[in-house]
Amino acid sequence: MSPRLRHLTTLEHLPRETIERLLDRAEALRDACAHGTRKLDVLAGRTVLNLFFEPSTRTRTSFELAARRLGADVVNFDIGFSSTSKGEELFDTLHTLEAMHLDAIIVRHKQSGTPDELVRHAMSGVSVINAGDGNRAHPTQGLLDALTIRQHRPDFENLTVVICGDIRHSRVARSDVHALATLGVKEVRLCGPEALLPATDEFAACPRYDDFDAAIRGADAVIMLRLQKERMASTELPDEAAYFSRYGLDQRRLKLAAKTCLVMHPGPINRGIEIAGEVADGAQSRILEQVGNGVFVRMAVLNEVLAR
Ligand code: NCD
Repeated sequence: MSPRLRHLTTLEHLPRETIERLLDRAEALRDACAHGTRKLDVLAGRTVLNLFFEPSTRTRTSFELAARRLGADVVNFDIGFSSTSKGEELFDTLHTLEAMHLDAIIVRHKQSGTPDELVRHAMSGVSVINAGDGNRAHPTQGLLDALTIRQHRPDFENLTVVICGDIRHSRVARSDVHALATLGVKEVRLCGPEALLPATDEFAACPRYDDFDAAIRGADAVIMLRLQKERMASTELPDEAAYFSRYGLDQRRLKLAAKTCLVMHPGPINRGIEIAGEVADGAQSRILEQVGNGVFVRMAVLNEVLAR
């Protein structure tokens, strides 16, 4: 059996067995919840800190719910009101918080690599979980996307998945590719304007497209991404109407995909920019299912790193 994780900073290089164990556990938790179990006590007495240096709706709330549903106590560290806004160094903040006896830190930061820095500086016994660092990794999103696809299409070896949009700035896309490739998905196509695709040597095994009609043809799942303007220079900003006509997912384009194609998006969605409202709300949309799965995946990860 692959060793138990102490931290989760990226899905890159995680063994397939570990990823499958986390997905299986998330599924078991979802089944238990469907049968009425709302709260477990496996993490009773443990304390989890949400340390978010960037805005978040889904991720932060679902980590909090996940921790509480496992019986842990949760502290939300509000950066706007904290001493980091008075110039305190990240590691001083870390050690101050650690002195209050934490068991896990869930961190989101605009700087890629911050979670690994925290792993290096954290006191032994404190687990670090990455909730998104720069454009590098968002491992729990990668897991919940894989879980959502697996629920409908467990035959990964037959699947074609398209990721479309601002892949260059997307930590979600990176973790999705790591998860899907490790789990044996037949083909992951990357689609977007050249300026928003990753460097050609990153994900060399994934076919690249600048024509969305060609990319989506026959696809079994399509993951749409937001234009992450906060990570772009103003000169890179595409014209939104022109962008939608070339890279937006509307009903006409969706018809080019397989009939049962799953429509996914990590959120927040921008209607009329990367996805038409009627597609986001349509019968093939799995967007809210992704949100629901997020809680179970985060429960599985917390249980993995914290259970005694
Ligand atoms: C994503 C993120 O923050 O990386 N959102 C999320 O976690 N659900 C994607 C995004 O912000 O576009």
